[in-house]
Amino acid sequence: MVNDAAIKKAQEYFGELLKRQLERVERIKASKGSTDFSKLDRIIIGVCGGDGIGPYICNSARIVMESLLADRIKSGNIEVRTIDGLTIERRAEVMKAIPDDTLEELKKCHLILKGPTTTPKKGEAWPNIESANVAMRKELDLFANVRPVSVPELGINWTFFRENTEGSYALGSDGIDVTDDLAMDFCVATTQGTERIIRAGFEHAKKTGLNYVSIITKANVVKTTDGKFLTIAEKVAEDYPEVKWDDWFIDIMTAKLIDPYRRSDFKVMVLPNLYGDILTDEAAQIQGGVGTAGSANLGMKYSMFEAIHGSAPRMVDEGRAQYADPSSMIKAVALMLNHMDEAEKGKKLEMALDICCQFEKKKVMTGRSGGATGDEFAQYVMDTVARPDIGAVWQRYIDAAVAANKK
Ligand code: IPM
Ligand code: MG
Repeated sequence: MVNDAAIKKAQEYFGELLKRQLERVERIKASKGSTDFSKLDRIIIGVCGGDGIGPYICNSARIVMESLLADRIKSGNIEVRTIDGLTIERRAEVMKAIPDDTLEELKKCHLILKGPTTTPKKGEAWPNIESANVAMRKELDLFANVRPVSVPELGINWTFFRENTEGSYALGSDGIDVTDDLAMDFCVATTQGTERIIRAGFEHAKKTGLNYVSIITKANVVKTTDGKFLTIAEKVAEDYPEVKWDDWFIDIMTAKLIDPYRRSDFKVMVLPNLYGDILTDEAAQIQGGVGTAGSANLGMKYSMFEAIHGSAPRMVDEGRAQYADPSSMIKAVALMLNHMDEAEKGKKLEMALDICCQFEKKKVMTGRSGGATGDEFAQYVMDTVARPDIGAVWQRYIDAAVAANKK
C-alpha cells in the first residue's frame, strides 16, 4: 500500500533541501577574489588539534611550522592562534559538528592547520553528528581538496582535485527515511560548484606544465550529476587548448592506479567528492599509507590544511598517541607554506620529508614504543630542513629512485 502521508512529508522535506541548495548556488556566484597573502599586514593561522591522535600530531607539525616561520611570527606579521573546541566531547555536548564559538574563531583566521577529528557513525557511543571536516569544508566553502601523492621510485606524481562541498557529501547528513522500508540519500552537483573545481584542476595542469588532466566519474550510470561533471569538463577544457585531457570511470581508474604499466602516465585527476575520498586513500596507500598524505582544502577566502586520515582513537586508548606519525600533518604544513607566500620553504620541507621518510630514515615511526615519538621525528625533519646540503641530498634520493624505477 502506498503511504501518501509519508510521500507528502518527504516532498516537503525535499523542497526545503532544494531551497537551501539553491541559496548556496547564489552564495557561490557572489564569492569572488582570493586572498593575496603578500598584501596582508598580519596573517592569522589558526591551529586546532582535533581529537584522538589529532592534538599530538598537530602539535608536532605546529612546532615545525613555527620554526620555519619564526622571523615573521616574531615581527608580528604572522600570528599563530590555538582554536579550541573541535573535540568530539565538546561537539557531542553542543550536538553540533562545529560549536558556534569555535566556528566564529575559525572565521577570524586566514589559514587553518587542523588535526584529525572523530567522525561518529550510526550506532557508536557518540551521537551521530556530522563530520567536523565535512562541516568545515561547507561552512568555509573550501571547495577544492587538493591531495598530492608522489612516489619517485615508481615514476608517480599525482595531484588529485577532489570536489569538496557537493556530490554525496552535500546532504550526507540530510538523507531521509521516507518510511521504515525506504531510505534515500541525495547527490548534488551545481554548475558553479562543478565548474570551479574543474577549472582549478586545469589551471594547476597549465601552471605546472604537466598539461594533462583526467576527469573521473561514473557518468555512464550516475547520469545526471556525474553527467553534468563531464559535460562541464568538456566546456572548461576548451579554454585550455594546451592541456590534454581524458575521462575515466571511477571503477577502472581504481584498477589503473595499481597498473604498473599505466599509472605513472596520470598527472592531475579531478573528481567528485566521494570518488575523491576513496581514490585518494588508495593513492596514499601506494605512497606508503594514509599517514604519509596531507591535503589542502582551498576556498576563495579561507583555506584549511590537514591529514587525510582519521583520529585513530585506538592509539590513544592503548597509550601510544605520542608514537603516532606526524608526517601527514607536516606535509599539510608544507602545503600551507606553498599556498601562502612561502613556497620556497614549502618545497624545502617537502624535500626534508622525502629524505627523512624515504631515503635516510634515521628516525623511524612504528606507531609503538620501539619507534620514534612524533616530536622526535619533527625534530629530525627540522634538523634536515636546516642542512645546507639538503638540495644535493634530495637530488641523490631522486636519482636513486629514478635508477631503481628503470631496473
Ligand atoms: C577525508 C576523510 C573525511 C572524508 C572523513 C573523516 C569525514 O575521510 O578527509 O578524506 O570523508 O572526507
Ligand atoms: Mg577519506
